[in-house]
Amino acid sequence: MKNELKNIIDEVLITEEDIKKRVSELAKTISEDYKGKKVLMLCILKGSVIFFSDLVRELDLDCTFDFMVVSSYGNSATTSGQVMILKDLSGSIEDVDVIIVEDILDTGTTLGYLKKILMARKPASLKICTFLDKPDRRTNDLTADYSGFVIPDKFVVGYGMDFAELYRNLPFIGVLSPSVYEK
Ligand code: IMP
Ligand code: MG
Repeated sequence: MKNELKNIIDEVLITEEDIKKRVSELAKTISEDYKGKKVLMLCILKGSVIFFSDLVRELDLDCTFDFMVVSSYGNSATTSGQVMILKDLSGSIEDVDVIIVEDILDTGTTLGYLKKILMARKPASLKICTFLDKPDRRTNDLTADYSGFVIPDKFVVGYGMDFAELYRNLPFIGVLSPSVYEK
């Protein structure tokens, strides 16, 4: 880790190598589950952009892409509880097999809301693939169909995940030092 990062990252929770291995496993499972089908891979921006890019390149399936931009946080480390759709899908998902690809399932507010509005558009199926899962903070009964890693209740950055829009480009998952957001 670069020296400047040592002040803001308390620990590396998941290494680059572990990420690569786990993403391959997830892609293999999804490819088996959807064998012979065409799937719409739905990237929830911005946080899942890196995970999405790695995952889709390992899928052994016909797939199409779409993107939504949702925001639930503002520039803080705790959820506002409000979900805003800043960019919607660019096409219909009626009768389409859809997999939502998300960076982290935390309270469940974002995915709970997305699932509800997307189900109303009558997809053939709708599943959730999340890179990280923080079950301790869940406020609803939402579970992921595919999950990379279950992590403790700590605020993490890297591999697409940010704090105040920074640190998304770190190649590993690091625990953000509370001194950064308690300032
Ligand atoms: P939820 O609505 O509480 O489940 O939160 C989901 C969203 O909150 C994720 O898509 C992330 O953008 C953000 N989030 C939750 N926990 C973290 C974290 O530890 N680091 C960075 N972003 C987080
Ligand atoms: Mg997000």
